[in-house]
Amino acid sequence: MRYEFIRQADHIGPVKIHDVCRCLELDSGSDMGNLAKDSAGTRRISREAIADIEQKMAIVLPVRNEDLKVFESVLSGIPHDCLIIVISNSSMDIFKNEKDIVSRFCNVTKRQAMVVHQKDPDLANAFSFSGYPDIIGDDGLISNGKSEGMIIGIILSRLMGKEYVGFIDTDNYIPGAVLEYVKHYATGFSIVNSPYSMVRILWRYKPKLIGELYFKKWGRVSEISNRFVNALLSTKGRFETEVIKTANAGEHAMSLELAMRLTYGSGYAVETQELISILENFSGILEATDDFVPEKGVEILQTESINPHLHAEKGDDHLLQEMLIPSLSVIYHSPLCEEQTRNAIKKQLLDMECLKEGEMVPDIHLLSPPQNINLPVFADNMESIMPRIIVPDNSIFRIAVARNKKTDANNKVVITDLDGTLLDSQNYSYSLALDAIRKLQGLGIPIVFCSSKTRFEQEVYREELGINTPFIVENGGAVYVPKDYFRLPFSYDKIISDYMVIEFGIAYQELRHRLSMALEAAYCQIEANASLGGILINSFGDMTIEEVAKETGLGLKMAALAKQREYSETITVKGNKKAVDVVFDEIKKAGLLCTFGGRFYEVTGGNDKGKAVKIILELYKMNYGNVMSFGIGNNINDLPLLSQVNYRMLVQGADKRWQKLNISGLCRVKGVGPEGWSKAIEMVVAQG
Ligand code: GDP
Ligand code: CO
Repeated sequence: MRYEFIRQADHIGPVKIHDVCRCLELDSGSDMGNLAKDSAGTRRISREAIADIEQKMAIVLPVRNEDLKVFESVLSGIPHDCLIIVISNSSMDIFKNEKDIVSRFCNVTKRQAMVVHQKDPDLANAFSFSGYPDIIGDDGLISNGKSEGMIIGIILSRLMGKEYVGFIDTDNYIPGAVLEYVKHYATGFSIVNSPYSMVRILWRYKPKLIGELYFKKWGRVSEISNRFVNALLSTKGRFETEVIKTANAGEHAMSLELAMRLTYGSGYAVETQELISILENFSGILEATDDFVPEKGVEILQTESINPHLHAEKGDDHLLQEMLIPSLSVIYHSPLCEEQTRNAIKKQLLDMECLKEGEMVPDIHLLSPPQNINLPVFADNMESIMPRIIVPDNSIFRIAVARNKKTDANNKVVITDLDGTLLDSQNYSYSLALDAIRKLQGLGIPIVFCSSKTRFEQEVYREELGINTPFIVENGGAVYVPKDYFRLPFSYDKIISDYMVIEFGIAYQELRHRLSMALEAAYCQIEANASLGGILINSFGDMTIEEVAKETGLGLKMAALAKQREYSETITVKGNKKAVDVVFDEIKKAGLLCTFGGRFYEVTGGNDKGKAVKIILELYKMNYGNVMSFGIGNNINDLPLLSQVNYRMLVQGADKRWQKLNISGLCRVKGVGPEGWSKAIEMVVAQG
């Protein structure tokens, strides 16, 4: 590749922005021979230098329901030595075709690629588990969007040990243009001096073929975005500048050292936001976020392509606004942007009727730097997923990131809810979780039950499954620790048969007494106020074994054990909301706690699962040193449990939804009850 001489660059502190380079020769020969040297006014990069970079580069192909023929032709434009990473958000049937196409392509060309689906639940979990939940939506999956796809691509490139990552849209009709873009990326990286670098491509030709309309739109958005980025830059130095010509360049590449450090914007904001992020973090105008980057500086190279850019025409007229708003909004909301540029942006948006008078410039959702991810942990989590995303099938791959040294299995502890989590919420069966239980047992990872169930009910499951660990009964009422389980002595409240018992709850008889007083008070109020309607309350203590069996769906034997309560009462409440509120209010006034466990209400003397979990973890730590704790639940009463552990996992309810829980770092596992539980255990095992 031969460029016209690289022109003077603009400097904003340590950030160096080169003006657009013009390409004179797409191929300027090899290092051999002596003909093709730099000549005056040009800069030549040899084939070897380009090939050297290509080997270190991953090309990320975001795709969403594109024409498969076009997609296939894009593949053929990617230089052989680059690793192809396809991030698809297409419908499942199309995704299958995409994967087939890449497989076939790689088989015959003897290449390797990664093909992932953006909505792969295991991928989402790998991200949330490694401390990067930014791209995960409320449904527990990775959100829609090309920028989310780009971040997946960046992190996978890093995982595979690449040094550069480039992006190519998959709706590009001209494979020659695709090839050219990658050549520009590689050329750019061999020209720059900084390890923190970026190459952005300006499309040279305005193709007449698709009419003025499409290009005019993008052209106009770009022109306006460029203008405002330049305006912002101009206020930072002494000279006015027009150096930025690629504020919306979708075709661009970065060194991974840079890519991992930037903050990304969602939607059409992403490309402009990259520039803003570089300026915010590294130009020295704001406080630097990083110590080494400023030393070496950041370099941005812009080049102009020779091939025409021809891609799928998607939107209509309103798209102009949809594209412009995000792009300008990231400039507007940057702390770098002063009043003058802000006013100008606002005026522009008003003039173009993108905003109404009095309306605010919308905020863009930002995604934090990918380097916030814990890569070794991510690598561990990806290990089991890799075989199905690498193509061709069964090919050998190597994860470049050093994985966490597997910790001693004794240092992991799983604390789990039972009903609706380890056990099916309807038939109380653990059969779907059995393999996972056996796996944990094989690894010597303790499973600690933490349930509303009584000690007697839990003993049945402990016996059946051969589990001999401590357990938490009746919603944190007490911790039962088998004698001799822990080596070091600890304090407990009493010894019952073979257990040492640490109590948190109040005794059942006392609890029932207080509860009946509270209910009495509630009945009085409800009777006195006809508008509240009636209320029907029943408790396990007042029901016969048969009634409990009928109400719960338990067999007679288990129903009898469910009635043998020590620290809590289970009640059913039927009535209209106002009356029910009166009841809960009185229960609360009596100093009792009432929580919903999925089917019934549990009344306790104030204890919840949290305190008991905390004590158990302290015992494990005391005996085994640092432990990695995992909590699995399905419902609101598991919140205190989850808040005590390092890794929080939530399985789906019978309706295939996740309970809404307000807690950070929660990993929503796909799968109802015991099925989700098994998935969660896979992650426990993978965690390094
Ligand atoms: P434009 O070229 O900027 O108008 O945007 P396109 O709609 O063509 O999208 C650019 C590229 O991103 C194309 O290759 C799309 O297939 C791809 N893309 C769009 N949305 C998504 C998404 O949600 N996830 C992924 N992974 N790719 C997407
Ligand atoms: Co496009």
